[in-house]
Amino acid sequence: MKKINSILTTITLTVLLAACADNKKATTTEPSLKEIFKDDFDIGTALSADQIEEKDSIADEVIRRNFNSLTPENIMKSMHIQPEWGTYDFTPADKLVEYSQKHGMSVVGHTLIWHSQLPQFARNITSKDSLAEFFTNHINTVASRYDRKIQGWDVVNEALNEDGTMRESIFYKLLGEGYVTEAFRLTQEAAPNTELYYNDYNNEQPSKRAGCIELIKKIQDAGVRIDGVGIQGHWHVGRIPLKEIEESILEYSALGLKVMITELDVEVLPRNFQGADVNQRMTMKDDPAFNPYVDGLPDSVQQQLADDYAALFELFLKHKDKITRVTFWGVNDGQSWLNGWPVPGRTNHPLLFDREFKPKPAFYKVIEAKKN
Ligand code: G3I
Repeated sequence: MKKINSILTTITLTVLLAACADNKKATTTEPSLKEIFKDDFDIGTALSADQIEEKDSIADEVIRRNFNSLTPENIMKSMHIQPEWGTYDFTPADKLVEYSQKHGMSVVGHTLIWHSQLPQFARNITSKDSLAEFFTNHINTVASRYDRKIQGWDVVNEALNEDGTMRESIFYKLLGEGYVTEAFRLTQEAAPNTELYYNDYNNEQPSKRAGCIELIKKIQDAGVRIDGVGIQGHWHVGRIPLKEIEESILEYSALGLKVMITELDVEVLPRNFQGADVNQRMTMKDDPAFNPYVDGLPDSVQQQLADDYAALFELFLKHKDKITRVTFWGVNDGQSWLNGWPVPGRTNHPLLFDREFKPKPAFYKVIEAKKN
């Protein structure tokens, strides 16, 4: 009996070890995005608060394996980092910096000045002087703390309307249109060793691009430093504006700026407008036709998604001398903000890794794009 037990234990252990070896093989033999594109541009991802805390070991493995640039999806926005007037919470951002240092990655600070996700006290400000005080103190305190610790800042985020005019944000209304240049001037003083970027969505589209170029020229004409421009890259499957993206890469680069794709995802669900304005919503949430892929993507859409990603990376590689970073807005489909916007509670599939962190066909097509 004792002998049978011992044989059974040996068999069980052998099976378990084989399974572990298989598992390990499955993850460690996958190609790594950052390795594949190491001579071309950085490959980034946006991290949620839980991912910064390293709460999920599978997510953590995928992050360390594939990405060399990290953008905090939310925790460095003003409502989180300065929740009360003059009271800062640096704990998660410090943790992110520590994580990046431990793994030899860089960090992009997102974002200093954005009309959205402002702390409640700032949203209530009605006087120019008070807003100017918040604006100056916020930039000085936050940007100086992370100088030499992060690579760059999205100094100003989404200051433009679709037609290229200035968005009538609280900053524009109370401080005037010079607030963008002033934000860059303050950040340059507070963080002289940090790169400074302007970041927006749809700024590859001709009208918004023209407004973006005008804004950048104003900063440059004032003798203030701006190092890069972020094209966020929230695009839709089957409708990637490749021509406009290419024109934008060339035109922004001609201004002497580094070009970055900063929030890449390719949405697969129906939508009746373009862009990424978080205040915009759709109201057809009860119609199942607007949430068609709850059980997974049909092959045809999966293939289109893969082809779209391949076309994008072929374009990025063509202009690798102008593009310094391509950042995905999230690690896997389950984490994507597009599951909750513009209709809450949908099942979206916009990234390269599925909900189980398995590489999708789009992942392999992106890698093939490098080989072609
Ligand atoms: O943390 C709270 C949680 O406690 C609460 O239970 C839950 C209930 O709704 O909300 C959680 O906060 C949410 C937060 O994401 C963290 O998940 C907010 O409601 C939600 O509004 C917030 O959305 C973020 C959005 O910016 C808001 O501005 C998205 O995660 C983030 O991906 C998105 O990122 C923006 C970029 O910063 C700028 N460009 C567009 C991009 C997409 O909108």
